[in-house]
Amino acid sequence: MSDWRVPGFTSTASLRPDALFGGAEPGEDAGVPERMVRASGCRVWDARGREYVDYVMALGAVALGYGYPDVNRAAEQAIAAGVVGPLPPVLEEELAEALSRRIPWIERVRFLKTGAEAVAAAVRLARVATGREQVLGCGYHGWLDWCQGADGVPASTRALYAELPFNDADATRRLIREAGDRLAVVVVEPVVVVEPTREWLEVLRVETQRVGAVLVFDEIKTAFRLAIGGAAERFGVRPDLMVLGKALANGFPLAAVGGRTDLMAGVSRTWISSTLATEGVALAAAKTTLEVMDRESVCVHLHRVGTHLLHGLHRLHREHGDLVTGVGGIAEMCFLHFAAEHISRDVARGCAARGVLFKRTAYNFVSLAHDEGTVDGTLEGLEDVLAAMG
Ligand SMILES: Cc1ncc(COP(=O)(O)O)c(C=O)c1O
Repeated sequence: MSDWRVPGFTSTASLRPDALFGGAEPGEDAGVPERMVRASGCRVWDARGREYVDYVMALGAVALGYGYPDVNRAAEQAIAAGVVGPLPPVLEEELAEALSRRIPWIERVRFLKTGAEAVAAAVRLARVATGREQVLGCGYHGWLDWCQGADGVPASTRALYAELPFNDADATRRLIREAGDRLAVVVVEPVVVVEPTREWLEVLRVETQRVGAVLVFDEIKTAFRLAIGGAAERFGVRPDLMVLGKALANGFPLAAVGGRTDLMAGVSRTWISSTLATEGVALAAAKTTLEVMDRESVCVHLHRVGTHLLHGLHRLHREHGDLVTGVGGIAEMCFLHFAAEHISRDVARGCAARGVLFKRTAYNFVSLAHDEGTVDGTLEGLEDVLAAMG
């Protein structure tokens, strides 16, 4: 273990074997897949050559399936066109145009490489627009200082951030009013395990306007999944700024912050810039991903197949209530609640042994490459694992 060149095993914490399958005893070979060599559609091959049906889907970064041919072709053309250069690429403006056609409240957009960067940019723009510093956040917004209480974050930075409770309309109203004219921005994930209530969304919209703060929807998981325009589109709420990432380029590294023209104009009063933000491969991949999303009605497919999965999970809950205490999430992103940590570990390992990568925590994602038959096979595998444990 100490010979690993990447401290912590991998740079992506949620993909560590202990996160996916529970910690191994010292010297134990749990037989779980640890590193992969290839992925295609909804299937993955590990370093030992074993094949799996996957629901991790790169932590939601892939909605069309791995290596979607049209997206790959677009990426290959961008590689042939030189990837980067001395001038902004035509593709940057073309993608911005395509996004605002599908998500009209994204009037202007800036591209970055990671979700964390794009949410940080949204917060910066809100601080520029309001001249205020305080932030209320709800959900996970990435690893950067402005929203983290981790070791190494200055206390003065941490002091500017407070948590807003998801779906608690009264507490949300109170916290926004208390922060009042010190509040620059409210940043929320619009789905945290369950759907947002109408009341909570309304309080967010009305109360931020009341105190003159910016409302940001962090739709990094939900855009291109619940709808192309994410939860804002599905639930009919208009945030001031919206952050996109993950499935935007079907796995190629790209994120974006976009929204109202007047707020986005703040980019000229601050500094948001990154050398490789506009490299052509991810821009081309995103442009084609959007076309496929439209052509194949991808979000309709995700909802249909995800609903099939969700119903199956509820059935498992009913039949194995001693092991499974509930079902979390929504059709497009869901998981089981287990009665104990060791049960979730044994289920994840049992699924892997049957050729299924099923996350034991939030979230499992279906893609265009999953169909009802794939899901039925997975549910049978889960049923076998739970029955053997019961
Ligand atoms: C809602 C949300 N915001 C921000 C992030 C951070 O994105 P990234 O890991 O690309 O920096 C994530 C990643 O999981 C996320 O789910």
